[in-house]
Amino acid sequence: MHRTASYEALPGEVGRVLLLYSGGLDTSVMLKWIQDEYEAEVVALTVNLGQPGEDFDVVRDKALRLGALDCHLVDAREEFAREYVLPAIRANALYGGGYPLFTALGRPLIAKLAVERARESGCDTIAHGCTGKGNDQVRIESTVMTLGPELKIIAPVRGWQMGREEEIAYAREHGIPVKGGSEAPPYSIDDNLWGRSSEGGPIEDLAEPPRDDVFQLVTRPEEAPDQAQDLAVGFERGVPVSLDGERLEPVSLLERAAEIGARHGVGIVDHVEDRIVGLKVRDLYEVPAAAVILPAHKELEKLVGTIHQNNFKPHLDAQWAFLVYAGLWHEPLLSDLDAFMDAVNEHVTGTVTMRLYKGSARPVARSSPNALYDQALAGFGESGGLFSQASSPGFIELWSLQTRMAYSIRNREGR
Ligand code: ARG
Repeated sequence: MHRTASYEALPGEVGRVLLLYSGGLDTSVMLKWIQDEYEAEVVALTVNLGQPGEDFDVVRDKALRLGALDCHLVDAREEFAREYVLPAIRANALYGGGYPLFTALGRPLIAKLAVERARESGCDTIAHGCTGKGNDQVRIESTVMTLGPELKIIAPVRGWQMGREEEIAYAREHGIPVKGGSEAPPYSIDDNLWGRSSEGGPIEDLAEPPRDDVFQLVTRPEEAPDQAQDLAVGFERGVPVSLDGERLEPVSLLERAAEIGARHGVGIVDHVEDRIVGLKVRDLYEVPAAAVILPAHKELEKLVGTIHQNNFKPHLDAQWAFLVYAGLWHEPLLSDLDAFMDAVNEHVTGTVTMRLYKGSARPVARSSPNALYDQALAGFGESGGLFSQASSPGFIELWSLQTRMAYSIRNREGR
């Protein structure tokens, strides 16, 4: 074994490892493999970010049975919602125009918790189950190195030469329970309270529409109710605080929005994506909460923002999404951008009603005490007060001046 980067641990250097443990096949094989290959002790850490249907006690028992000294379970839903998802909402965060970044937002929090628990449990190394082809390795390792420069990192899946079949064989040999027999699950899944992704298997064929079995969270639009539902999303300073007038804490609000959106088939995204490591990959996302809340937020922001703010902010939103996608949660530019997002969102208070119907979610009503909107001015009725129609011709003459000059120069006779 050799190392490419200074933070990679060689077998002799590892005493005790903090393993980011999901309970799945890769990290279960790792749990044993690290004990065998590195002759190291393993402490496991499992983080709850609101992955639906996960039984964390089962995961913990499995880790202990496979020889972990301990398995920490951290319920980080609250911190994830407040410190990661809410800023993403203020930044209307969508990477590549469609991916609301749920995985990308979760990784820096998981890595931070790993550094904290590694220090508390006397670990010198952090291990994770990422492959060498994805973005998650970049996000986790960048964050670990930033926050815990004394720690080393191992990513066994990146180095070991085992394919799926060999992993299953290794698991059998070492008494690791394998879910669902030796049938490889068709998709690679990652999820939390802000969304769910499926990759791999038949999804890799770009020419094929998604198979129905991909969608485990969102009802397929064809099967969604025939009756539309209106959902009023209330915001205070850019933070969603209520649904249909009922005040909710962030975690419950996001879960409730996901449930309602999912029922109406809202939030299916078929996305070909530019990974940070150069690959183009197709993901199928189910993001019902984001598909309801992000457009509602954007609509309200537009209502309270000036033409200048509304033209400018999307550029910064895109930069925010890119930095988060790219694993640079601790990049100073991101906190600079956050200061801007917060300043704009000071005024983003009000309510937007979204109409959900068979896969679509569109704003149908909005109100805000800060709206830069005056029904009397905008209407076709009488004018006067702040707006004088008599001024418009003068405005048009000056507004079009350069365009008119340029046009006439470019169309001079003889050219
Ligand atoms: N393409 C998304 C991203 O890079 C989702 C990745 C899902 N991660 C996973 N380990 N399956 O953030």
